[in-house]
Amino acid sequence: MLFRDLVTKCRSYRKFSASAAVPDELLRDLVELACYVPSKGNLQPLKYLAVSDAPDVAAVFSFLLHDAPSCNWPGTAEEERPMAFIVMLGDLRISSEFSFDSGIAAQTILLGATDAGYGGCMTTSLDREGIREQLRIPGYFTILMVIALGKPLETVVIDQISGDDSTASFEDAHHIRHVPKRMLDDVLLEFRKTQ
Ligand SMILES: Cc1cc2nc3c(=O)[nH]c(=O)nc-3n(C[C@H](O)[C@H](O)[C@H](O)COP(=O)(O)O)c2cc1C
Repeated sequence: MLFRDLVTKCRSYRKFSASAAVPDELLRDLVELACYVPSKGNLQPLKYLAVSDAPDVAAVFSFLLHDAPSCNWPGTAEEERPMAFIVMLGDLRISSEFSFDSGIAAQTILLGATDAGYGGCMTTSLDREGIREQLRIPGYFTILMVIALGKPLETVVIDQISGDDSTASFEDAHHIRHVPKRMLDDVLLEFRKTQ
């Protein structure tokens, strides 16, 4: 796949096929990819839990919150739920700062999943205490993010928007989800070139 196609296909998916498990080998491969990304000071404070066991997957799903218009997990039918999760942890014994590292690692994992024919969604609106208890996560880890994974069932398209157009994604009458994205000319403010 062309890199540009990979990036545009790598959307946030919240509906997945129940007949397509996410192989443990793929979960390992995705976390391995995250071992090679840049890290501030090269501290590499991120750790991961791969969750593919059905009861744990169901429990983690129940801890995904719905507190923004585009975070519609409750709109996901039971048979369309994620088949696996990667829980991203920050190891407080190594660092107390994770923000840039976590984003770089998460997008790399999702690009890898897309390249392998899967897809997913970063999720930071979480009942972290519920997840901590369910997965028995020690206090020296902070729970940064949960990445939902599976074979996407949704068709998602990018709508190019400008100005004050709404950035909220929506599903149309044909069950196609539209994700508005600002156009290049709205985000590239100036192209400075020395003559
Ligand atoms: C840092 C971060 C946190 C996010 N947290 C959530 C979340 O808690 N729940 C959710 O459903 N989506 C979450 N998303 C996904 C965004 O809603 C999604 O990226 C946005 O709607 C645009 O869709 P796209 O990823 O297909 O471009 C998150 C994305 C990012 C980058």
